[in-house]
Amino acid sequence: MFEENTCEIEYSAGWAKKTIEQARNYESDRYSKPARGRRLDRKDKAFAQKLYGMVGRDAHIVDVPCGSGRFFEIFSKAAKLTMVDYSESMLKVAEERYGIPENVKMLQGDIVSLPLSDNSADLCFCMRFFHHPDNDKVTLKVLKELSRVSRKYVALSFYNRNCLRYYRKKLRGKRIRGYYLSFSHLVELARQADLEIIEKRPKINFVEQQCLVIFKKA
Ligand SMILES: C[S@@+](CC[C@H](N)C(=O)[O-])C[C@H]1O[C@@H](n2cnc3c(N)ncnc32)[C@H](O)[C@@H]1O
Repeated sequence: MFEENTCEIEYSAGWAKKTIEQARNYESDRYSKPARGRRLDRKDKAFAQKLYGMVGRDAHIVDVPCGSGRFFEIFSKAAKLTMVDYSESMLKVAEERYGIPENVKMLQGDIVSLPLSDNSADLCFCMRFFHHPDNDKVTLKVLKELSRVSRKYVALSFYNRNCLRYYRKKLRGKRIRGYYLSFSHLVELARQADLEIIEKRPKINFVEQQCLVIFKKA
């Protein structure tokens, strides 16, 4: 357990303090009640399933941040799954739900400096994280870290600023929560981390901000 918050990402401190009860409620609060939450959950899981198909069952998959294990059932079919999260409570809940089979490791760690060696994974999967670090410097650091650990693919979600939801909030003068990037800007940052874009879902973001992308090591 981290004695104090050592992460340079402000957002992470809040997660380090989450109680077990809050961690237990994370998935049901976000993905099970409103229809939008369920729809996003289905899309995220279809994306994870596609990635599993790309790397195959012999792969080593790193799921960071793994949260309470939303993708466990898909990724634990791989030869090796490493789940990393900053929050001890989220990891405890993942363990409580799924146990820790022999091919799975759960580690408490910081995405800015992962406790994993270079080129040790076939896929680094990073879902619902990139809209939190609120500047390019940290975003690039995280991209470089995922690129360092993966020898093949890095897949992630981000908030695409080219969507109706973003412009509607801007026009109404509403507070914009989360760090929105344009796709071209993310691709440029990823290029600096030796990553090349190979797929984007959806092709055009109309209303929804969430965008899913797959990069390969250059
Ligand atoms: C919105 S949740 C997403 C969890 C999971 N990827 C999912 O889609 O269900 C964000 C997660 O990021 C974790 N987190 C926050 N800061 C982190 C950091 N610096 N390193 C690793 N994990 C972090 C939190 O503990 C939390 O589990």
